[in-house]
Amino acid sequence: MANTILIGAQWGDEGKGKIIDVITTEHQWVVRFQGGNNAGHTVEIGEQRYVLHLLPSGILRPDCSCIIGNGVVIDPIALKKEIDEVEAQGITTRDRLFVSDRAHLILPYHPLIDASREGRAQHQEKIGTTKRGIGPAYADKASRTGLRMGDLLEPDFAASLAKRIRENNVLLEAQGAAPVAVDETVARLEELAQVLRPYIVDTVRLLNEADQRGESILFEGAQGVMLDIDYGTYPYVTSSNATAGGACTGAGIPPHRIERVIGVIKGYTTRVGEGPFPTELHDVAGDMLRKDGNEFGATTGRPRRCGWFDAVVARYAAMINGIDFWALTKMDVLDRQPVIRIAVAYEFEGRRFESVPASARVLAGCTPVYEDWPGWETDTTGATCLADLPGPARDYISRLETLTGVRAGIVSVGPRRDSTFVVDEVVRR
Ligand code: GDP
Ligand code: IMO
Ligand code: MG
Repeated sequence: MANTILIGAQWGDEGKGKIIDVITTEHQWVVRFQGGNNAGHTVEIGEQRYVLHLLPSGILRPDCSCIIGNGVVIDPIALKKEIDEVEAQGITTRDRLFVSDRAHLILPYHPLIDASREGRAQHQEKIGTTKRGIGPAYADKASRTGLRMGDLLEPDFAASLAKRIRENNVLLEAQGAAPVAVDETVARLEELAQVLRPYIVDTVRLLNEADQRGESILFEGAQGVMLDIDYGTYPYVTSSNATAGGACTGAGIPPHRIERVIGVIKGYTTRVGEGPFPTELHDVAGDMLRKDGNEFGATTGRPRRCGWFDAVVARYAAMINGIDFWALTKMDVLDRQPVIRIAVAYEFEGRRFESVPASARVLAGCTPVYEDWPGWETDTTGATCLADLPGPARDYISRLETLTGVRAGIVSVGPRRDSTFVVDEVVRR
């Protein structure tokens, strides 16, 4: 099967984990290329529910090898915990999980700085981060003051870490936050370095050798286009490139080796954290989406903000990422809605926008231009092909396809592996 990038086309939580799990049967490798343990990817297999934060979703398929690429920021404490958790569930990670020696570390002061910033921020300055230290770790990477997975194995690691803890403690104390204990932290990380040592390799070479042998690779995006640091609703974004281009820089694969891009998109929209969200609902329809879609954060448990499908966002995502087809998820969550709305454009101060404006202030002031579509008010969870869906559901999908210029190649009508179907004529083109 073709080397594939799979990305979220909204504000994250589109159901990427579930779709990856379904399509990994076609791939030997699954690679995370950006983000960190801010992600929460849920996979339901039978009665078992897994939420993965750092480990690629391919870890749940025993014949799949997994890479955490150089573009990811890794909290070694969180990584060890997640490895232990999946191993306790009978999943082996040795010899099939590989962690890039170039990936930057999230160190104990990063989440503290993240939380301290969020805590001190005035209302409009709050980003609503996951407080996992993502922003401060990427800031250190860009400032060239970061430490990387490979540094864990260097002879001077303890000294380098102690120096950085002391520097960051000055910052934390100036902000009224508690400092990090130097000796304890160094000892803990030295211990972790030994545990993680077997996983740390040159993944760039490993991946390219696998590609040259003709093995098929799936790149697993985290977050979504609207949280991308360049294309999202800056500054209400995460600190990495969640768009398709991020896979090349975040894994070390040449662009011409990518053969297809899948965009995962819900039949409606959600967002966690602060920032503009034009189609957000504050009414019964929104409450129904939250309840029926179980829209609570997989990482932080926060209730997700819910709203209608935004075709402006979807078109923008299709353009930036070159999406070949959608994996359209959570169609079943619309089953109880009598009327379903789609935003086709925005209006702001008498101007019409067909694409997403750069300014968060402008986007926050935009009013969506809606089309209303009749709901189907029928249970779709048993559908195994397009023909099984009620007429209004097929019409709705068809309208989304027309508005975005991209066909739906995979449709999902429930959280489990088997509640998914492929539209052959789209996927096998
Ligand atoms: P991710 O971050 O993109 O992997 O998505 P999350 O796992 O954070 O959130 C998606 C949620 O929706 C998870 O709880 C999934 O189990 C669930 N889910 C995925 N696809 C469907 C679907 O088609 N229908 C329903 N009802 N739930 C789904
Ligand atoms: P997955 O991969 C949804 C959001 C946070 C916050 C902003 C910045 O599960 O789709 P950060 O901690 O990254 O600095 O927070 O980004 N955010 C997500 N929202 N799904 C995610 O990941 C997210 N990862 C970060 O809520 O608004
Ligand atoms: Mg998620």
